[in-house]
Amino acid sequence: MAGTGPLARRRCAGARGRRVREKYGLAMAGRGATLGRMDLSGIVFPMRRADGGYLGMTTLQEQAWCRDYGARRHTGAGALVELGCFFGSLTIPFAEGLRAAALAGRLRPEQAVVDAYDVFWWHHSMEEAVAGSPLAGRLREGEWFVEICRANTAHVLPYARIHWEDLTTYQWPGGVIELLLLDCLKYDAVTNPVVRGFFPATRPGLSRIAHQDYFHFYEWWSHVITFEQRDLLEIEEEVPHSGMLVLRVTGDLGPYCSAYDPQRAFARTPPALIEDAYAWNYRVIQPANHDALTAARMWAYIQTGDLDTARRLYADTRARYGASPHYAMLTGYCASQGIAFPG
Ligand SMILES: C[S@@+](CC[C@H](N)C(=O)[O-])C[C@H]1O[C@@H](n2cnc3c(N)ncnc32)[C@H](O)[C@@H]1O
Repeated sequence: MAGTGPLARRRCAGARGRRVREKYGLAMAGRGATLGRMDLSGIVFPMRRADGGYLGMTTLQEQAWCRDYGARRHTGAGALVELGCFFGSLTIPFAEGLRAAALAGRLRPEQAVVDAYDVFWWHHSMEEAVAGSPLAGRLREGEWFVEICRANTAHVLPYARIHWEDLTTYQWPGGVIELLLLDCLKYDAVTNPVVRGFFPATRPGLSRIAHQDYFHFYEWWSHVITFEQRDLLEIEEEVPHSGMLVLRVTGDLGPYCSAYDPQRAFARTPPALIEDAYAWNYRVIQPANHDALTAARMWAYIQTGDLDTARRLYADTRARYGASPHYAMLTGYCASQGIAFPG
């Protein structure tokens, strides 16, 4: 079913870039005025999928990683922050792990909390994640779904705090972040303030950054940004059967974030930077994920207006990765945008 594999994931709010960003901006401007009361009776919370995982866009392995992180690794010296929580398919396992750590006396109650953020504004691309569930077909474009996330995570209170915020404008109130899990870097208007506002709250030697969709063709700017931060980060883990990359923070990200130039990470990225970023990524990332990286590299060229290079890259790598689901996703998505790759 949808959401059981990283490749089945849909780009929430990312698919149409600027247009979606504008929609989010408009939607948030009317926040509160249009909040409809959904009838949630008859829905069993927490919602689960056929594979036993929590309903959402994450894999069982990612959910397990979050549970284990909460139970064994989180020290409580900083906050556990999740950006882009949707219905809480990672929030719940985080909270389950934290609860186990608190009950075992490893964490104090105030240390055993995940702070999960989302704008909770329904976009049609999210429909695939609820296919076959009681929510299928029930949410309309622009409808708020914060109540669904709250109901879905109610059983893990007080270990989870749900924050209804628009990350294009929200400012981190301060305080050290020990784990920053990112599943919202789908367009520039969110990515830029998150890099500037949240990344500097990490601390060398303590913090981790988890990019939930690192191995996905769409998020090429995460590859560029991580390359630019390479001397301040260390790769810890590529979570199997998922798109998740976990990095340890080894240096002070503050100066990089103050100097961060969004133009370099988005539409005006120089081709040399794209190439350097991918050369580095191929060196440090396991070969099993190189198909996803190469699909993202093509998408980077397409988005920066160099379709010829993207097509050349496709022709050069098709023999190796042609059967890759990441290639299928890229070419399928491009076809839906009227961009053809010669066969
Ligand atoms: C890929 S989905 C996250 C899936 C989620 N991690 C899960 O467990 O299923 C991306 C999320 O980013 C959120 N998002 C998009 N734009 C946002 C914004 N401006 N502020 C806060 N959240 C946003 C969407 O509402 C969506 O829930």
